[in-house]
Amino acid sequence: MSRVVCLTDRGTTQDRMFNKKRFFLILLIVVPVTLLLPVSYHTTIAPFFGARRDIGTREMVALRTVPHPQERNKEHCTNNVYVRPPPWSHSLPTIYVITPTYTRVVQKADLTRMSNTLLHVANLHWIVVEDADNKTSLVGNLLNSTGLNYTHLNVHVVEKITSRGSRQRNVALKWLRDTFRLNDSHHGVVFFGDDDNTYSLQLFDEMRYTEKVSVWPVGFTGAMRYQSIKVNALGKVYGWETRYAGTRPFAIDMAGFAVNLKLLLSKSKANFRVYNVGTGQQETRFLQDLVTINDLEPKADNCTKVLVWHTRTTKPPAFKSQGDPNIET
Ligand code: UGA
Ligand code: MN
Repeated sequence: MSRVVCLTDRGTTQDRMFNKKRFFLILLIVVPVTLLLPVSYHTTIAPFFGARRDIGTREMVALRTVPHPQERNKEHCTNNVYVRPPPWSHSLPTIYVITPTYTRVVQKADLTRMSNTLLHVANLHWIVVEDADNKTSLVGNLLNSTGLNYTHLNVHVVEKITSRGSRQRNVALKWLRDTFRLNDSHHGVVFFGDDDNTYSLQLFDEMRYTEKVSVWPVGFTGAMRYQSIKVNALGKVYGWETRYAGTRPFAIDMAGFAVNLKLLLSKSKANFRVYNVGTGQQETRFLQDLVTINDLEPKADNCTKVLVWHTRTTKPPAFKSQGDPNIET
């Protein structure tokens, strides 16, 4: 009996020592790992763990050069932290997004939101046309700081016209026609993206290989939850699903189509009408000059998916104070 007790005692002592060793071993593994985990998410040293992170080389370089917060000045912030240009490939057609914009209280917020979307899209060139006598520094600085490829233009509409943004869109079309020739090998597609809409990234993939004019549904327009396109079993467009002026030859929203760049260059007279054009007639009059309904290419799963929404930013409630006039909003 006493032997057994003795053995048990010795066994207990060995167990304790083993447990102690195991405890220290676990401690040795757990402590450093616990300390390193949050560090691996810290931007300045993330590149050292970076091989597993799915970020582009240019972005990694940018992150590596982030200075200590106290050493940062405005220029550093612009050059190294917030500029993350999207990839550019010579084999992809370029998407030209034409955006009219005008000065108002939510303009910078709208353009910032839109630029954050466009930053995810490869081979994208943003043509922003201000409805202003002169290009403003607000829009100029914003475009410059995004790292996007862009062209900044302006034209001011003094007379009362029924189609907001159309004079600006025509200036962008002129820029494209002045910049590219029909026999250039350059491939592109043109999309009219208002500054306050909401765009999914998939939308840009859908439009990139447009041969003539591609079309898709748009959310929150046409007096419907979404306005759509009627597509038959053979994948051909044969009509429109809208509760707003459905008898128009092309009853479609500005955000609901994209046009091949070469088609636009070949139809050099196709522009948006700014006079004598009723509300909702801009799109149809423009498209009538370019294609017939048979030419339309339905996208977004034969027009069964909504990938763009006709959203509007509400005006903020009245301000009780303007604050420091030097601070831009
Ligand atoms: C709808 C359509 O979606 C637009 O494509 C169309 O141009 C417009 O109506 C119209 O026919 O007037 P909606 O949301 O009502 O759009 O209009 P906004 O978003 O206010 O304006 C369309 C675009 O034009 C925006 O990018 C906006 O910044 C710009 N815009 C608006 C100007 O450049 N100047 C203005 O005075 C107003
Ligand atoms: Mn709008």
